[in-house]
Parts: sequence; C-alpha cells; structure tokens
Amino acid sequence: MKLNVIILAAGQGTRMRSDIPKVLHTLGGRPLLQHVIETAQQLTPETINVVYGHGADQVLAKFSGWPVQWVEQAEQLGTGHAVQQVSLSDGDGIVLILYGDVPLLKKQTLQRLLETAESERLALLTVKLANPTGYGRIVRDDQGQVQRIVEEKDASDAEKTITEVNTGIMALPSFYLKQWLNRLENNNAQGEFYLTDVIAMAVTDGILVETVLAENEFEVQGINNKRQLAELERAYQRSQAEILMDQGVTLRDPSRFDLRGEVDVGRDVEIDVNVVMEGRVKLGNRVKIGPNVLIRNAAVDDDVEILAHSIIDDAQIGPGSRIGPFARLRPGTRLAGGTHIGNFVEIKKSIVGEGSKINHLSYVGDSEVGGGVNIGAGTITCNYDGVNKFKTVIEDGAFIGSDTQLVAPVRVGRSATIGAGSTITRDAPEGKLTLSRSKQITVDNWQRPKKLDQER
Ligand code: UD1
Ligand code: CA
Repeated sequence: MKLNVIILAAGQGTRMRSDIPKVLHTLGGRPLLQHVIETAQQLTPETINVVYGHGADQVLAKFSGWPVQWVEQAEQLGTGHAVQQVSLSDGDGIVLILYGDVPLLKKQTLQRLLETAESERLALLTVKLANPTGYGRIVRDDQGQVQRIVEEKDASDAEKTITEVNTGIMALPSFYLKQWLNRLENNNAQGEFYLTDVIAMAVTDGILVETVLAENEFEVQGINNKRQLAELERAYQRSQAEILMDQGVTLRDPSRFDLRGEVDVGRDVEIDVNVVMEGRVKLGNRVKIGPNVLIRNAAVDDDVEILAHSIIDDAQIGPGSRIGPFARLRPGTRLAGGTHIGNFVEIKKSIVGEGSKINHLSYVGDSEVGGGVNIGAGTITCNYDGVNKFKTVIEDGAFIGSDTQLVAPVRVGRSATIGAGSTITRDAPEGKLTLSRSKQITVDNWQRPKKLDQER
C-alpha cells in the first residue's frame, strides 16, 4: 500500500531555552529532524511532509535541497491542526505520523506498525511508563479494545492511573484520516485540535484500533529540554558503542566514546577513553587510538597508532604510522606508510612520503615531503607572506636540521642536508650541506655583570 509520511515539527520548544528551533538541536552530530527524515526515507514512502512553523527560516535553510515537502503551520493550534495543513492525496494508502523531536525511533518498529495498519485498521504505537505524567493515556474497554486517548489535562483521576501512554506515532488509512480531520473540534482543556481525537472517531466508525508496543522508552521519547537531549545522546552513543563492540572493537569505556557520524572498522581496533569521531572515519586493522583523541573525516590505515591528545582532521594516514601524542593533522594531510609525526607537530595540506619523520615541534604546511626525510625539531615551513601561500618541496632522503625556517617557495633537493638554525630562502641543491648561520664568536675578556649594591 502507498505510504505518505507526515512529520510534525512546528512546535517552539520553549523549554529548550534556546534561539535555535528545537528540531535543529543535534544528537550524535545530526539535527533531531534529520534523524527522523532519514528513518522515514528508509521506509521508501511516496512523500515525506514536514510541518514546520517556529524558526521557519532556520529550518528551511538547514534542510534546503532535501527531498521533502514543506508544509507551513503558521499558528500552532494543536497536533490535529498540524496534520490538517497537509493536503493528502485522494484514495487509499497509509499515512504515518512522526515527530521531529522524537529522533531515536527505529525503522523496525515502524515496519511493525505499518504491517499492522490496513485500509480498515489503525495502528497506534504505545509504550508503558512507570511514570506516565504528561502523556495522553490509552483508554481501553473491558475486552481490552482501545476506545480513545485522553490527554493528561483532560483526564479523570482514574484515567491518570493508566500507565500505557500514547507516543503520538500512528499509521492510519488516508481515506478515513481525511474525514476525521474535518470533524476535529477544540473543545478541550487546552483549546487545541488534538490529533488523538481520531482514535475515538475510528472506534465510532468501526475501524479497528490496534496497538504496537515500543520495545524501549528511548525510541519513543521526545525531547523537550536539554536534560532529555543529553539523556538521549547518551542512549544513542551507548547503542553505537555496542554495535562497534559487536564488530570486535575494544572500547576501553563505552560510556566515554562519542561517534557523531559514521565509522568503518577493521579487526582488532582498540579505542581508549574520550575519543570523539566525527563525519566519516575509516579505521583499518589493528589501529590503536589513545585517550582524548579527536578524529574527523579521516582514513586511518592498518597498524596505525594514534597517541593521546591528537587531532586528526580531514587527513589520510598510511599503514604503520605513529601519530602523536599531541599531534595535529589538519585538512589535506596525506601521510604515506611508516611515518612518525610527534608531539606539537602541525601539518596542513601536505603530502609526506614513506617512512619520513617529523617528531617534534614543527609546522609543515603546503608542502610536499618525500620519503625517508627527517625533519628536525622546531622546523617551520614559512608558507605565507601575509598575502599569498607558497609551496615547499623537500625531496627524498633530505635531512632538515633543527630550528630551520624554510621560506617558501623553496625546494630542498634529494638527500640534501640543511644545517640546524638555518633560514633557507633559496633552493638547496641535492646531496649537499646548505646552511645559513651567522658566525659564532667568543669574547675572551668579557665579564659577567655584578649585582648592584641596593643599600646605600
Ligand atoms: C502529544 C499527544 C499525547 C502524547 C504525546 C507524546 C496530542 C493531542 N497529544 O502531546 O497524547 O502522549 O504527544 O509525546 O497529540 N506540534 C506541531 N504543531 C502543533 C502542535 C504540536 O507541529 O500545533 C508538534 C510539536 O512540535 C511536537 C509534537 O507535535 O513535536 C507534539 O506536540 P506537543 O504539543 O508537545 O504534544 P503533547 O502535549 O506532548
Ligand atoms: Ca511533547
């Protein structure tokens, strides 16, 4: 049967206490609404309709180009009113109602819901909560058949003791939904058009209401404040950590691991505490990551070791390399195999060849470094004259003495040696020693100044 999805996302989210529309707050690095749209897409519906209202400009800007239909609800007069804004196509088919602030709902749960819904049957996702306060309660008759949903504010004391609550998520026949929407009224405690009133209408019209029970609370939990946002973030990270452990990754502490994107892992990967990964990350076999490391959009080959406190941003690292501690690889860094990048070394937009070592306190930017190169401590490629950037080329086997400045554009030839403390402004020929250094002198009769007598 044809499926159309409606995502309600017009609410303000006052309790977030934020200028950012609620559905744009992120969980696992992605806006809440994105989670919901992506889950909906997996069901391959005919259309995904997003009802938006508060923060319209920001929401539309963030999702421009996404294959969804935007439906404005200028004034938020209730969940039923929100659904009324969508022009439903004629004929049969199923409409699935989702919420932009319920991000962790699983595809499998929705599939169960869709299997239950039919042209003469409504499927409602419910959950049992120890503390149901605030939610709409599911009212059943003596035979256990659902009769209606009563909102907290309209509920009697007896109804308030019901622990089965409405998640708001439902799949229902489009043909009937259209009729029921026309019949909604707002004569209730909140003066709103409640979508939940369609349940009682279905019962009246002889349409069976079946419930599907959600497996866990997190899945159907909406986010209304920053505490709930943090709670769901942890639940999400925990489930991602479990997936990785199931794939064989050793996580020293799954509660101190954050993945805000996707990671592809090889065998026997070890990840220490407080590692954050963002974007798309690929880790080869036997990769070891030390504590407090940030890795974003990177490909890390087999047997690489990334030591504590390193930042890897948009970089590729060849097999068997050792990075850090305290190394920073910036966008455009491509390291071949067996490289050693040590502490307080920053590399940007540079290629480094096989087995080269840059072990201490250096900056290498806009450079092409060959294989077997040794760059001494404190070497700087001066790539920027304040206006333009220039390239440094260091050919295979070169040795750069400590505290050297290579003023680009400049080339250091094959197997050339640069004497420590040099400022190199012209190309250094291959195989030779090049240095620029003022002569060392010794002053024979020099005496250290004496401490002046302070008391007079
Ligand atoms: C709703 C349900 C309640 C259920 C609960 C689950 C109704 C009447 N009640 O209550 O039974 O237990 O969700 O969380 O449906 N929204 C719009 N436009 C509107 C109003 C709401 O887009 O005019 C969106 C909100 O942005 C939000 C969602 O719909 O994402 C739910 O609205 P909210 O007002 O929070 O409903 P609840 O009172 O929580
Ligand atoms: Ca709510």
